[in-house]
Amino acid sequence: MEKIVILTGAGISAESGLGTFRDEGGLWAAHRIEDVATPEGFARDPKLVQNFYNMRRAQAREAEPNAAHYALAKLEREFTGEVTVVTQNVDGLHERAGSQNVMHMHGFLEGALCAGCGHRWPAPLNMKITDRCPKCKEVATRPDIVWFGEMPYDMEEIWDHLRSCDYFVSVGTSGNVYPAAAFVQDAARHGAITIELNLEPSAVVSDFAESHCGKASDIVPEWVEKMLSVRR
Ligand code: APR
Repeated sequence: MEKIVILTGAGISAESGLGTFRDEGGLWAAHRIEDVATPEGFARDPKLVQNFYNMRRAQAREAEPNAAHYALAKLEREFTGEVTVVTQNVDGLHERAGSQNVMHMHGFLEGALCAGCGHRWPAPLNMKITDRCPKCKEVATRPDIVWFGEMPYDMEEIWDHLRSCDYFVSVGTSGNVYPAAAFVQDAARHGAITIELNLEPSAVVSDFAESHCGKASDIVPEWVEKMLSVRR
């Protein structure tokens, strides 16, 4: 049974109206990483951090999946082998397009996490610094998002997938953030065919055997049809 692992980044949700991070006018042009995406920033000003993710949660709820998300869900349904999406994105657009096998290595906007006891529960639209953990009652609620300096989720399982896949495909990511940017090397070392689908060549394009540039809503459905035409 053939296995495909697809790594996605902010670029796959750009055409759904969700800003990327490092493109012109991206999130990191308007917000300082140190302030809104580190545990230190959260300790310093939790209200600022919660408002940043409340804004993104509202935008993600308004957004709709695009043709690239739907194409990956179709591939999962119709491909004779196994398809796993490992996403750096915290929006739920893969699942809303119908993908079942999705791993959120950087967390999830719709999740709340107690910084005290580690309990998780569905996030309210507007998280407040006074929110109490429903389990330990502590006032230590944070978005269930992996910040810089923290360990991404499910890494053991992700490495297992990378070391046993036949295809590793990267969609809409700039290749600037590790460990995700190193996945291609690991997959290639274990014999996978590696393909980059991105608006422009990423910082790690030279690690890929194949690279196609264009908008995700164009090049992802094209690639999926090609894959399914021989393996439905
Ligand atoms: N179609 C395809 N690719 C696109 C599109 C599009 N419509 N629009 C932008 N891109 C590409 C850009 O060319 C860029 O290479 O998507 C990439 C987005 O890169 P980043 O903004 O760096 O986002 P990403 O790679 O997902 O960031 C990784 O960094 O900030 C942290 O935790 C955050 O998960 C995020 C991680």
